[in-house]
Amino acid sequence: MKEIRTSPVLVVDFGAQYAQVIARRVRELHVYSEIVPHNISAGDVIAKNPAAIVLSGGPKSVNQEGAPSLDTDIYELGVPILGICYGAQLLARDLGGGVAKNTVGEYGRTSLHRHKDVESQLLQSLPQKFSVWMSHFDAISRPPLGALSSASTKDSTVVAFEDVKRRFAGVQFHPEVTHGEYGKEILSNFLFEIAGVSKAWTNYSIIEEAVKEVRDQVGDRKVICALSGGVDSSVAAALVHEAVGDQLTCVFVDTGLMREGEVEAVEKTFRDQFSIKLITVDARERFFEVLRGVEDPEVKRKAIGETFIRVFEELRPEIQDASVLVQGTLYPDVIESGTSTAAKIKSHHNVGGLPDVMSFDLVEPLRWLFKDEVRSVGSELGLPNEILWRQPFPGPGLAVRILGEVTPESAETLRKADLIVSEEIQRANLTKTLWQSFAVLVANVKTVGVMGDERTYESPVILRAVTSEDAMTADWARLPYEVLESISQRIIAEVPGVNRVAYDITSKPPGTIEWE
Ligand code: XMP
Repeated sequence: MKEIRTSPVLVVDFGAQYAQVIARRVRELHVYSEIVPHNISAGDVIAKNPAAIVLSGGPKSVNQEGAPSLDTDIYELGVPILGICYGAQLLARDLGGGVAKNTVGEYGRTSLHRHKDVESQLLQSLPQKFSVWMSHFDAISRPPLGALSSASTKDSTVVAFEDVKRRFAGVQFHPEVTHGEYGKEILSNFLFEIAGVSKAWTNYSIIEEAVKEVRDQVGDRKVICALSGGVDSSVAAALVHEAVGDQLTCVFVDTGLMREGEVEAVEKTFRDQFSIKLITVDARERFFEVLRGVEDPEVKRKAIGETFIRVFEELRPEIQDASVLVQGTLYPDVIESGTSTAAKIKSHHNVGGLPDVMSFDLVEPLRWLFKDEVRSVGSELGLPNEILWRQPFPGPGLAVRILGEVTPESAETLRKADLIVSEEIQRANLTKTLWQSFAVLVANVKTVGVMGDERTYESPVILRAVTSEDAMTADWARLPYEVLESISQRIIAEVPGVNRVAYDITSKPPGTIEWE
């Protein structure tokens, strides 16, 4: 196993967002991959002992001043290299080929034609003609010395090349995106036919590897994990428990601002199923106390953050012998933060309020994983689907979904409405297609309604359901009318204090996902 992790496929990041997608696709082919910056030195590459290298696309043109390049000694290491888009142009430019401005750029779906007389390993078993995804202006005019051009498009003569002797290949298009055809086959041909990489990265080995790493890092020290009820902290806790058993204590703060059934699910899973030492702090009264009379969203957030800190401070006697803290940092967070220091600051934030004066070493067992890998690891460790498929939930909880004062009553009203949303979305089998779906209570507004012969004067609930890849942008979900209807009917009939339901049809931007 160790051998596999020490021979990753390195994905060199040239600055577009494609590197992450490429790393994903490589992992989907059961090959471990890591993203490295484009200024990596040949020495650092040697230290990683890679099985192959993939050069990603990038926003610049290779002939532009200041365009990122690769330490050319890397070409001499004998490591197989695949260049994609910018990466392919770099190979052409650096290895005796040519890159020139094309008369026209190619963007979007484009038809590729294979050269009939060229026997290609890269395009092996693919049709003569298929569609690929392009995004470039400059084009490869000549492949690297010794490489054969194996395909072209209407506007570019060299869109795929390979040198099977040196084990170099390049494609002008993006095989990693799903809009083109046969991308997976092309990556697979490169990895297994040209580079001779072996398949060995499975979830099972992820667990084995992570468990070993955690054991090495933690030794016999005591570990603490603040559970949020979300996927990442839950899987991280289960993994660390697998590694160090009773040395782990989990802390879960019940703020009174959780969704229905969340506290019970956490207790049932961690205390009962995994027999993990779990301290649940019932801090409901305290949180409602500090939220009394508060309407301003930022003041709410601050009050909640400070209360988290105080709760942890008071817990200190119980957790003082712990010197390691588990963080559910994922690979995309690691890449985004860039440096380990930044990752520390960001993850520190995620804990939701550990006091600064308490210092811990961090253990981050998920730092090499993407979200869906985290889910499958969690599933393999026996975590229930209700935790694994939980939607993202803001740290300040339901407080930022209650417009106006947050009271035990308003929280209970929202929890009831929110449960109906979850149930109906689940019944329609839409949970996994949505990034988030929830109810918002406009507690500080009343609307007139009529129920039976009675006039009502109660609060509206807003239904929010969005699709998104990463929460940076989001679109309102086109929920079927029947689902909207059943949610609306049930909320009005079953939740006292609510007499109207509206659906939020604002995307992000310009709106945000949450209402506060
Ligand atoms: P917005 O509302 O900014 O939300 O579009 C983007 C994502 O972040 C979540 N969110 C939060 N998460 N603390 C958190 O831990 C917060 O204060 C917070 N506010 C928003 C939100 O649920 C969405 O997934």
